[in-house]
Amino acid sequence: MSTGSLPLARRVCLSVPASQDRMVAKALGLTLDMVMFDLEDSVADEHKSSARSALSDVLPSNRPVASICGVRINSWNSPSAIPDIEALAGLPANAVDVIVLPKVEQVSDVLEVERLLIELGMGHVRLDLQIESPRSLVSVEAIAGCSSRVAALVFGPADFAASMGMPQLTGSGFDESTGVDYLLYPKSRIAVAAKANGVCAIDGPYLDLSDIAGLARSAATAAALGFDGKWAIHPQQVELIVEAFTPGVALVERAKALLEAYEQGLGDGRGSIRFDGEMIDEASRQMALQVLARSRRLA
Ligand code: GLV
Ligand code: MG
Repeated sequence: MSTGSLPLARRVCLSVPASQDRMVAKALGLTLDMVMFDLEDSVADEHKSSARSALSDVLPSNRPVASICGVRINSWNSPSAIPDIEALAGLPANAVDVIVLPKVEQVSDVLEVERLLIELGMGHVRLDLQIESPRSLVSVEAIAGCSSRVAALVFGPADFAASMGMPQLTGSGFDESTGVDYLLYPKSRIAVAAKANGVCAIDGPYLDLSDIAGLARSAATAAALGFDGKWAIHPQQVELIVEAFTPGVALVERAKALLEAYEQGLGDGRGSIRFDGEMIDEASRQMALQVLARSRRLA
């Protein structure tokens, strides 16, 4: 993966604390779209330096099986950010594809990280940017378009809920008693900003490992909004997430049937026809084409 290349499948990204040797070793062998070794919030301050050294030891000789290898560094305004980037600069060029930058607040955060990457010979590395505060959200369109190195915008539901003062502890946003998802607005805005700038939209983690139905709902909501994928924080979440972001057989078959019917209608000189009870036209054809393109890309 290099700057300017098309994004690979981004259905799931498994986040693994870089300080947990056994989890890192296991994650290296998992077949996934993306694995991300975390140096930020899942690593306690007193372990930041050893986690950095552990990654520097492991990554040069162990390319993960996952298609994309990411590392989440600490936020640009933290004292750990520069040491994190310097440690990654010491790795072979193909060791890390994506740096995940958390708590991006403004365009200048991204440009300053980018300047340092270029200075340290890491200009080929792509950036995933976490949008996880109100300040970040109000600048999200500019942030998404500020550099050709941006590969994705990633929603951070837990930090977003905290920085908004939302009275919740799970970062799920969904309230069973009202059926309302209080994080729908930031998710929608992030998805639109990402797509307007030709980058991927990735939903953040679902923290409750025991709530399978909640994870399924959260992943399905993100997929419905146009997100390309979602983070997993445990290997047991991976399969369900991949499924949510892969167009199902029924949808693909319907898209094929719709295209066939519409093309027959066009052949008869009609720009809109009735298909299975529904009026379809060129916009319907576009929806069907993108479902099929996505399905082929993920096959
Ligand atoms: C992830 O970083 C989150 O804050 O939810
Ligand atoms: Mg966060």
